[in-house]
Amino acid sequence: MFNRLIKTHGRHRLVEGWPLVFTILVVVSILVGTVVEFAPIFLVQGQVEPTPGVEPWTPLELAGRDLYIREGCNNCHSQMVRPFRQELERYGPYSRAGETVYETPFLWGSKRTGPDLARVGGKYPHLWHVRHMEDPRSTSPNSIMPPYDWMLANELDLSNLPDKLNALRGLGIPYTDAQIANAEEDARAQAAEIAADVSQQGGPEQLQSREIIAMVAYLQSLTVPEGVAAEVAATEAGGDTP
Ligand code: HEC
Repeated sequence: MFNRLIKTHGRHRLVEGWPLVFTILVVVSILVGTVVEFAPIFLVQGQVEPTPGVEPWTPLELAGRDLYIREGCNNCHSQMVRPFRQELERYGPYSRAGETVYETPFLWGSKRTGPDLARVGGKYPHLWHVRHMEDPRSTSPNSIMPPYDWMLANELDLSNLPDKLNALRGLGIPYTDAQIANAEEDARAQAAEIAADVSQQGGPEQLQSREIIAMVAYLQSLTVPEGVAAEVAATEAGGDTP
């Protein structure tokens, strides 16, 4: 009977006539495709080298980054400079893969209601960010960014930092035992420095225990890593376009 069927309709038609067998064959072929697609990604992952100068976040920057995610800043701001002339002119060197090896989750984004922030670190003094977060229109007339003034009032919670660092280490970020044990102390020291700068620049006093300081620390950490700066300098010396 099979022979007759194959003769008149071909093997394919025969298999199609068996829904269960056909389903299993389809699933198997999808699985093979999946493995072929995924396997190289997992194998390659360990081979992306961190760009020289890129370090895991300090505990305070990490706290700021979590606030950035909590407040949904990434809904309006990307953190990836694309390799196009207009982006290079506006933001600086384009983003390299090795710059984000320690980012979990990454915040590259594609929505730009506001400008890209991948290179915003060092662009403004700390106080500018405090004022801008409190009321964006005080520094950027006509800005449509909403104010985040509660960050100047909210107490910064640092108690869970050791746990966060530890969890990130579990995901492959190379935090040391000492960094984890001293996370809270380390964050307080960095916060005190930034808060001192803010008041020295004529801003509000005593912000060291407020959320805004962690946010400023994080934003100021978004700089061009030395590895990228060196690459750009070398290309420019060669007379090539960036
Ligand atoms: C509704 C969209 C929107 C959201 C949400 C938003 N921003 Fe903005 N942001 C803007 C716009 C538009 C500008 C440009 C005007 C200005 O400077 O305020 C801007 C500018 C900025 C700048 C200055 C960038 C530069 O290069 O001058 C920083 C820093 C910034 N935002 C940080 C944040 C942070 C941190 C958050 C979350 C707490 C946030 N933004 C949330 C729209 C947004």
